Amino acid sequence: MAAARVTPIGVLLSGRGSNFLALQAAIERAELPARIAVVISNVADAPGLVRARELGLAARALPHGESASREAHDQRMLDALAEAGAEWVCLAGYMRLLSARFVAGYAPRILNIHPSLLPAFPGLHAQRQALAAGVRVAGCTVHLVDEGLDSGPIVVQRAVPVLDDDTEETLAARILVEEHRAYPEALRRLLVEPWAIEGRRLRFGA
Ligand code: GRF
Repeated sequence: MAAARVTPIGVLLSGRGSNFLALQAAIERAELPARIAVVISNVADAPGLVRARELGLAARALPHGESASREAHDQRMLDALAEAGAEWVCLAGYMRLLSARFVAGYAPRILNIHPSLLPAFPGLHAQRQALAAGVRVAGCTVHLVDEGLDSGPIVVQRAVPVLDDDTEETLAARILVEEHRAYPEALRRLLVEPWAIEGRRLRFGA
């Protein structure tokens, strides 16, 4: 039997990088037919970037302050991704909006993970928003990226309960456990299953 194709992935991150590490761990467990071709961060000392280097992965710091505009910064990232041969882009705590140029360069092969059950609570502090709204169920969403903020067709969602004594921190920690399951699952399904986008809906199956 022919070996499954291994898809090169580019990861963009700005901080801790636990979702990047969850993807890498799934690859190492042979659960994801992918390899991380490059990790790029707009924050030079982001812990996720440091970890990528420790793992021997290609890691590039591209501080956004070095570019005159969002478009110019995004073009640098596009160049670095192309140089690494990345076919998909996974945003893993990348804390900047992508320009239309960037999205056009990779869509629909750009994924993001967000710590809420979208379309509820897009943007910053999703867990704080969930607590403030008094919802009883929270969770995470992996979605394809379009030009909007945390919009784009939903691939996988995983839910967790909100407990009466939850703080932002305890809720975020419960959601993060599910994030680390949802991201590899979403990417694996997109890489190995047929899928199509109909309106806002992503449908798996031929
Ligand atoms: C995660 O909660 C993710 O959903 C959000 O940013 C956070 C990044 O965490 N987009 P990490 O850097 O992957 O640990």
